[in-house]
Amino acid sequence: MKIFVTGASGYIGRAVAEALRRRGHRVAGLTRSAVKARGLEAREIEAVIGDMRDSSAWKHAASRADVLIHCAVEYGAQYEALDRETVNGLLACGGRVLYTSGVWQYGAGGPFDESTAFAGKPLMPWRTEHEKLVLAAKGLVIRPGCVYGGAGGLTGLWFEGAVEQKAAPIVGEGANRWAVVHREDLADLYVRASESALAGELFNATDRSRFSVREMAAAASRAAGAGGAVKSLALPEAEKLYGAMARGLALDQHVDSSKAARLLDWTPRFNGFTDHADRFFASWKAVR
Ligand SMILES: NC(=O)c1ccc[n+]([C@@H]2O[C@H](COP(=O)([O-])OP(=O)(O)OC[C@H]3O[C@@H](n4cnc5c(N)ncnc54)[C@H](OP(=O)(O)O)[C@@H]3O)[C@@H](O)[C@H]2O)c1
Repeated sequence: MKIFVTGASGYIGRAVAEALRRRGHRVAGLTRSAVKARGLEAREIEAVIGDMRDSSAWKHAASRADVLIHCAVEYGAQYEALDRETVNGLLACGGRVLYTSGVWQYGAGGPFDESTAFAGKPLMPWRTEHEKLVLAAKGLVIRPGCVYGGAGGLTGLWFEGAVEQKAAPIVGEGANRWAVVHREDLADLYVRASESALAGELFNATDRSRFSVREMAAAASRAAGAGGAVKSLALPEAEKLYGAMARGLALDQHVDSSKAARLLDWTPRFNGFTDHADRFFASWKAVR
């Protein structure tokens, strides 16, 4: 298959692009950076240099693809508008679109499965609208849990705090549990979804680990040499540091991903963040 990936240099998109390439697909990936483009080419991924904002730079490559996977994100004032514009641009290209959403769309509580509607207002209401655009066009939506593995996205914050301030920062007391997934397991789910003939389906992507945030942050802190020290931040303080993301970090969630197991034969291989925290720290340090 021919695949086009936005955010192919990012934490999730890179793993997805590489996993698809390993399966023998022709993969093209969007990046704004000439340096990162060389990194993609080195991994046999065709680099398309351009910005989400300017579809003329990537429309041609995207129109050749059977599957278009959206993993790019630009946080900031344009977050929502740029995401919508990109989703519409990808949908106009004709292939099947896979949209990356997230489990924060469910809010606190659970267990949630794909049939669960959010009670109240999600952290990012617009994201649900973008999901609907993709599902209506017979695309697929994936809602990853908080992703760990390698240098980490969110989990990198714990390593940074442990190294620089001798304590891994958490929002609240940390009795809450995140729904999580290892990046390679997540990439495997994207591969299976891309290779399937499924259309108009939403999938959660979480493993079955149920460690509390405090347990995971303490493991990160130990791995980073801070002896398991964790620093609890009150929500207003965390909002100053992390913006709206702080409310996501404070969520206590239980998310069920058995639909992906059932329809895509997907089995996560990793058992949660704490098992290999030392390896994740080594990775974080290496790419820092
Ligand atoms: N990380 C998690 O734990 C997690 C969990 C659930 C859902 N998600 C969702 O997954 C998606 C990807 O997250 P991530 O953590 O992989 O993000 P990331 O590591 O920050 O990667 C972002 C990517 O977007 C690209 N990008 C940024 N602005 C761009 C622009 N204007 N035009 C073109 N490309 C642009 C960057 O590429 P260049 O800099 O090379 O251009 C980069 O490859 C997001 O929607 C996020 O909300 C993430």
